[in-house]
Amino acid sequence: MGVPIQADETDQQPARKRSPPGGFSAAQISVPRGHMLIRAEKENERDAVYAVNASAFETKSEANLVDALLEKVQPVVSLVAVENGEVVGHIMFSPVFLSGYPNLKMMGLAPMAVTPEHQRNGIGSALVRAGLERCRQLGFVAVVVLGHPEYYPRFGFSPASRFGIDSEYEVPEDVFMAIELQPGALIGKTGRVKYNAVFSNV
Ligand SMILES: CC(C)(COP(=O)(O)OP(=O)(O)OC[C@H]1O[C@@H](n2cnc3c(N)ncnc32)[C@H](O)[C@@H]1OP(=O)(O)O)[C@@H](O)C(=O)NCCC(=O)NCCS
Repeated sequence: MGVPIQADETDQQPARKRSPPGGFSAAQISVPRGHMLIRAEKENERDAVYAVNASAFETKSEANLVDALLEKVQPVVSLVAVENGEVVGHIMFSPVFLSGYPNLKMMGLAPMAVTPEHQRNGIGSALVRAGLERCRQLGFVAVVVLGHPEYYPRFGFSPASRFGIDSEYEVPEDVFMAIELQPGALIGKTGRVKYNAVFSNV
């Protein structure tokens, strides 16, 4: 974390839209639930993070995506939710680029997962809020997400189309959402968001 952004994934030319990556079928903070802790992932937690993603999604695609992002992309924000010493949730943010604005510091939230037996206890929400705060601390001014339109608006996300921003993926308009971490950061900046090439290769 904190490593200068690699600006080699910029895309000045809006590309033809593609199918979304598999699975779209998306400090220490206490949350009000026992001994739950949200904190940065540690290096020796790679297997536990893989297991959380593998358990929450239907296929291993997202777990493999997380591994690839951790290996190939910097900076990333990778937070875990830990309960009684066990990793039960994970969230990942990696840089995305808005066509025409290669220096605009934006993150893409993807993927996030909570083990099935721990879902609907507020862990996912705590991960999103902590992750957004961490992105803000690192100087990122906006975050996008491809996700459930009933879930993310509660954190302040709204359809990215509102800002004149779309994604490279062929998805319904309301599932591609954005949030400004710095008020006004997206005003007047329209274009297409491109994710790291890692997303296409998993
Ligand atoms: C999405 C996920 C991370 C949420 O984690 P969580 O700890 O259960 O989330 P919270 O307890 O904070 O919030 C639960 C809320 O999320 C909503 N939610 C969970 N999955 C949802 C889905 N697939 N579509 C819409 N809403 C969903 C629940 O309806 C619930 O809403 P409510 O509070 O109005 O009842 C978790 O359900 C999960 O791992 N799902 C499988 C993987 C996945 O789909 N990841 C997101 C990719 S976009």
